[in-house]
Amino acid sequence: MKNVPPNELDVVFLPESVPPESLEGKTVVVVDVLRATTTIITALSNGCSQVLPQPSVDLARDTYQAFPNSAVIGGERGGKIVDGFHHGNSPLEYTSKNIDGKTLILTTTNGTVAMEHCRLAKRVLIGAMINVDAIAKAVLDDPKTTVVCSGTDRVITSEDVLFAGALVDRVEILCESNQLESIRLTDTAKIARDHWKAVQAGIDAGGSLADVFRIARGGIHLVKIGHDPDIVYASQLDICHDVPELNLEKWSIRLIE
Ligand code: MLT
Repeated sequence: MKNVPPNELDVVFLPESVPPESLEGKTVVVVDVLRATTTIITALSNGCSQVLPQPSVDLARDTYQAFPNSAVIGGERGGKIVDGFHHGNSPLEYTSKNIDGKTLILTTTNGTVAMEHCRLAKRVLIGAMINVDAIAKAVLDDPKTTVVCSGTDRVITSEDVLFAGALVDRVEILCESNQLESIRLTDTAKIARDHWKAVQAGIDAGGSLADVFRIARGGIHLVKIGHDPDIVYASQLDICHDVPELNLEKWSIRLIE
């Protein structure tokens, strides 16, 4: 066993359940599986040069003025595309054809707002089911990591907690296979991991993660407004190996090289 101090992994089920100061000096993984962080990872993997997350529609429009020819503006309110925007918040819209080489200015109801809450962190990574393994490898050596779940309309939602649990599970597996001392888990990290393990057992028995998402708070609304294909896409594990990081000074998300 290598002689390293045990690292700590924590999970916050909603951004507002902790003060921003409590994230100071930590690595934070922000997640909004349905759909903001899945969309950001997809856009960057498809060649988008940077994502500028904005908490409000007005700020997104103001930011767009600075990039009239090289940016696209996207996002949602109530899950639907904002009037006058190029795209909504469906990851499926952010194809190479639509986004390659461009800056994306994005505003969403929960995900981009959760990022604002993490301004004091040491570094902020962007996670979703589609890149959970890459995130697990990226945080393995960090002494203190906190997963911040975005929730849906300020209420805890299962798909974000499941991402947190899947991440805890992957980190534990990596520690074991690399003969690292086991990670210290907070109570919320254990709850998330146990939730994930229960769902994983259902998947192993023939169920699907998409079905679990469809009855989660974030998923119910998306099904209602016709975005079931986004749920199917967002429920895929590890289809992407990229790790986006939010530069806290420039407020710009790019892939880690
Ligand atoms: C959000 O950030 O609020 C969500 O991703 C909502 C959505 O995509 O409908």
